[in-house]
Amino acid sequence: MTILVTGCAGFIGSNFVQTWLSSSNEAVVNLDKLTYAGNLANLDALKDDPGHIFIRGDIGDRSLVSKLLAEHQPRAVLNFAAESHVDRSIHGPGDFIETNVVGTFNLLESVRAFWQDLPPAEKEAFRFLHVSTDEVYGTLSPFDPPFAETKNYEPNSPYSASKAASDHLVRAWHHTYGLPVLTTNCSNNYGPYHFPEKLIPLVLLNALAGKPLPIYGDGQQVRDWLYVEDHCRAIARVLEAGKVGETYNIGGWNEKPNLEVVNTLCAVLDELKPRLDGIRYAEQITYVKDRPGHDRRYAIDARKIERDLGWKPQETFETGIRKTVQWYLTNQAWVEGVTSGAYRQWVGKQYGA
Ligand code: NAD
Ligand code: DAU
Repeated sequence: MTILVTGCAGFIGSNFVQTWLSSSNEAVVNLDKLTYAGNLANLDALKDDPGHIFIRGDIGDRSLVSKLLAEHQPRAVLNFAAESHVDRSIHGPGDFIETNVVGTFNLLESVRAFWQDLPPAEKEAFRFLHVSTDEVYGTLSPFDPPFAETKNYEPNSPYSASKAASDHLVRAWHHTYGLPVLTTNCSNNYGPYHFPEKLIPLVLLNALAGKPLPIYGDGQQVRDWLYVEDHCRAIARVLEAGKVGETYNIGGWNEKPNLEVVNTLCAVLDELKPRLDGIRYAEQITYVKDRPGHDRRYAIDARKIERDLGWKPQETFETGIRKTVQWYLTNQAWVEGVTSGAYRQWVGKQYGA
């Protein structure tokens, strides 16, 4: 048996493939375009694993995807591939429409053609799992209940609008064509292999480099943090037991304002790698211009996946953040690889000199 996964040279996907292959003999065909966010070094641990087949390519390339489906006959396709960074979507939304909307459409069409011709038993067992985000639900005020699966979609950034569009396409391919789909909407992830354009790894690496730790606006925006391996286990569980056509929200009941996240991270660094001059890392915190259209609060109501599928996160924020800091401190070669050329250009564009 084989599964085809897309976008698994990125942060969550590379964690997923490693988690998957550590507990399953089922081979993984990994289709990734290797954009700036895709990194083969994330998959180094699988170099000699015959269960991992890496193909460089675009989810929107119908002839390539059809060929891969025919050749490997996967029992499921899991779509992680996306442009994923909100700030980049503000600078340039085009790639987000191209991959997240048009790319998902083309992928759905390739998969539909393959699935339609499967023998009845395989057709029945086949799954298309779409990995999405809580950002499609929009923003919450402080006393709103967390996002349940029934919450209406109110995306506010080009990124979240493009993910919302992809979720709608997936839903429509189920209702119209019967494609057996599952959708997951997860909150903010953190952990190993996180590209340092996102808050936690950016702050971690800036702190170690003695650079400012940029806090947008007042730093009181709330996100609901989940350790990446917990997300990966949730996806595997939804694939295994999720009800066709349903969506599952994934989160760890871990709401925190950004400033608290950054202060916690600094405190862990103070303990594990104190500054030589004895000054606390939190002294490097700097308030910068806010993100346009910045969503104030996200929070996930995870009761459905807990109740129906028996999933629960294994890490608390305190244990997960410590593991994450330790991983970055011991993986210097990876850090040097991702913070070269193109990354520096992005930092210059977003934060100035
Ligand atoms: P990422 O940016 O780290 O990785 C995305 C990967 O997709 C990269 O390897 C990239 O090369 C690949 N890719 C991009 N366009 C492609 C294309 N057209 N064809 C094939 N591959 C392509 O993203 P991530 O943070 O790992 O997120 C993975 C998925 O999870 C995304 O769909 C994202 O929306 C969703 N998600 C992310 C978070 C989070 O906190 N990071 C939370 C919830 C959901
Ligand atoms: O909620 C799930 C989403 O989480 C995913 O769908 C996205 O792919 C993922 O990137 C993430 O989006 P966010 O915009 O929440 O993540 P980011 O790490 O970019 O920012 C987290 C918070 O920190 C947000 O409120 C903005 C703020 N921030 C971010 C950066 C990069 C800062 O204050 N300073 C910064 O330099």
